[in-house]
Amino acid sequence: MIRRRFLTFPLAFALAFALGGSRMIKPIGSDILHPRFVYDTAHHQRLAHEADSLPSVIISSQAAGNAVMLGAGYFSPLEGFMNLADALSVARSMTMTDGRFFPVPLLCLLESTDAIAGAGRIALRDPNVEGHPVLAVMDVAAIEPVSDEQMALLTEKVFRTLDLEHPGVKAFHSQGRMAVSGPIHVLSFSYFQNHFPDTFRTAVEIRNEIQERGWHRIVAFQTRNPMHRAHEELCKMAMEAVNADGVVIHMLLGKLKPGDIPAPVRDAAIRKMAELYFPANTVMITGYGFDMLYAGPREAVLHAYFRQNLGATHFIVGRDHAGVGDYYGPFDAQTIFTDEVPPGALTIEIFAADHTAYSKKLNRVVMMRDAPDHAKDDFVLLSGTRVREMLGQGKAPPPEFSRPEVAQILMDYYQSLN
Ligand code: ADX
Repeated sequence: MIRRRFLTFPLAFALAFALGGSRMIKPIGSDILHPRFVYDTAHHQRLAHEADSLPSVIISSQAAGNAVMLGAGYFSPLEGFMNLADALSVARSMTMTDGRFFPVPLLCLLESTDAIAGAGRIALRDPNVEGHPVLAVMDVAAIEPVSDEQMALLTEKVFRTLDLEHPGVKAFHSQGRMAVSGPIHVLSFSYFQNHFPDTFRTAVEIRNEIQERGWHRIVAFQTRNPMHRAHEELCKMAMEAVNADGVVIHMLLGKLKPGDIPAPVRDAAIRKMAELYFPANTVMITGYGFDMLYAGPREAVLHAYFRQNLGATHFIVGRDHAGVGDYYGPFDAQTIFTDEVPPGALTIEIFAADHTAYSKKLNRVVMMRDAPDHAKDDFVLLSGTRVREMLGQGKAPPPEFSRPEVAQILMDYYQSLN
């Protein structure tokens, strides 16, 4: 009996390792990731060659981001763009018509389908790279018009508003009204790999690196901003609370609204912070190619989905996660996980953080819920607008708010705009 156990354990372990490490959290809906990028070189060459003579269309930047995410395995096990019935079903209940979970509709909306009419296979061209090279090949399953009522339903459910001033709503409505759907075969990661060679990573690459590092408990941190003290301490608090081996800082590298800080500047600021203020070998600095939706709660669920796919066990959701203006309540992006996400859909655990700031009384950054005796004035609180103003004038925000080395990088950027 003992002998049998002794023999079977290493075998099971070897098998688990070969399957991508059974000790790692499983991707959504499957034991392994299903990235849609065509990794096989011969197949890739064949498809790229075929794509040259296929009917083709330049897709929207949002659709291109979806294609890159599908290629990178982040949206696994989805195979491509949703048809209208799935998109509407997902908008309503975060489940497709076959019952599979997905947080947001994944649409490829075109202005015109004249160039691809009747085609079974088409090339999707990249709107964000000069010359519009082929990003993916699609096996067309359907081409459907989206009515005004359907656009309104999709918008309302995803963004919780119909206001065209909302940057995500505006971007969504700037696309066409013809939805082309079907599985895709991704041939490129757009501009992300060239522009951010040290930071852009696929879910496959991050999973592999986590395994190589031997990390078992991993906190993921979403950001579209440079990291100030609150962000830094949130990561450290989460890591301590869940006894994590490390944190994967996973920044958005796609398009943002005007006024947000460009990715190369954020990247530099985040790298400096991690280098100076985190213990060695506890941080992975990575990024993904997707345009910001500013969809608050729904985007938080999408964020959790693809952090599970990259191998994280915990995901930080703080105050006004992925929010903009006053469209969402400060903690709507946390309550959606208990109120709306179908039970059992996600394995990744949410680390729900309270508003975090430097306490003048305690001389450290704290979550407000951990300092119930404090008044507002006991914290160092600065609005985003005030911080931008200061940086633009070459004034560093106080070190309680921003690390001086981070502030320097941001001041240099803002002053280069003048
Ligand atoms: S986001 O749009 O990517 O969510 P940001 O980069 O500012 O914006 O935030 C990254 C994460 O940190 C989010 O989970 C957000 O809720 C959280 N966060 C940012 N600032 C604070 C803060 N002062 N207190 C609590 N959570 C915060």
